[in-house]
Amino acid sequence: MRCLVTGGTGHIGSYLVQLLLGQGCQVAVLLRPTSNAWRIREVLDRVRVISGDLTSVAETAPDMQSFAPAVVFHLGWEGVGSSYRNSPAQLQNLDGSLKLLQLVSQSGCRHWIYMGSQAEYGPCDGILSEDLPVRPVTLYGVTKLSVGLLSQKLCEAYNIGFTWLRLLAAYGPMDDPQHLIPSVILSLLKGEKPVMTAGEQRWDYLYVEDVAAAIWQSAISPNAKGVFNLGSGQATPVKSIVERIRDLIDPGLPLGLGELPYRHDQVMHLQADISRLQQATGWTPQVSLDEGLQRTVDWYKKNCG
Ligand SMILES: NC(=O)c1ccc[n+]([C@@H]2O[C@H](COP(=O)([O-])OP(=O)(O)OC[C@H]3O[C@@H](n4cnc5c(N)ncnc54)[C@H](OP(=O)(O)O)[C@@H]3O)[C@@H](O)[C@H]2O)c1
Repeated sequence: MRCLVTGGTGHIGSYLVQLLLGQGCQVAVLLRPTSNAWRIREVLDRVRVISGDLTSVAETAPDMQSFAPAVVFHLGWEGVGSSYRNSPAQLQNLDGSLKLLQLVSQSGCRHWIYMGSQAEYGPCDGILSEDLPVRPVTLYGVTKLSVGLLSQKLCEAYNIGFTWLRLLAAYGPMDDPQHLIPSVILSLLKGEKPVMTAGEQRWDYLYVEDVAAAIWQSAISPNAKGVFNLGSGQATPVKSIVERIRDLIDPGLPLGLGELPYRHDQVMHLQADISRLQQATGWTPQVSLDEGLQRTVDWYKKNCG
């Protein structure tokens, strides 16, 4: 299978690139000249690098034509981190994503797999099913939703299969250090006390290898067309996650649980209903939270300790 991955240098994309290579796919990545490709450096010689940027993706037309991806995994996104949720830079993703879809439609693409987000639903508390109304409140959520809706329509017009995965939260080795799990690990490894809320909020975290496996299954399952939530299907109190991390590093270390107040709009329960995706693909998470945290802590100990 000829696959194009955008965001292949990112946390999730790097695992997807490795998985696709392991499945015998021919893989191309859209790589910005400024990218630091450290997460995929060991496999870079096995992928076709298409040098370019989503903001000027038309310039990659000759390379897209010559590689002619059958499947596009569109994970590339400017401003994934929480500090960019309302950045106007989010809007760059709209134009770039749609232009890329138009480009690959001219070179035989037959399946567009788009990584959306739980942020498309807007403020929610509880179990998220795909039938909930979408009321995004951040520029990130609005742009994610807009790209999803517009690319769905374009795929219909071009007769391209369309899969939209709304991910809740990924974690694992090589994650963005600003995300909760790595930031707690890094603080504890430095001997610093992580300062946080009481941590009673229950969130759904999916191990990054399971995220990549779900994306792959949606590429090879004929029924995986349409919108699907992607998560572990389990909600765990943040407090237990943080305590588990502390115990894996040193059970004697102090935690600053409760030292910060909850946000005024604090979400206390987020959990994906993953039954639709499971039925369509047969995919199910393989790595328990306990095991995933162990692997994540081990990676940070080895690489950042
Ligand atoms: N991580 C999560 O928990 C989570 C949850 C919900 C949804 N998602 C979605 O899943 C996808 C992957 O997330 P992630 O955590 O792996 O993100 P990430 O680590 O921040 O990676 C983002 C990727 O997008 C690329 N990119 C950004 N702007 C680009 C541009 N203008 N042109 C080309 N490439 C560009 C980056 O390339 P550079 O190397 O050049 O920076 C990087 O490869 C994103 O669409 C994100 O919104 C993630």
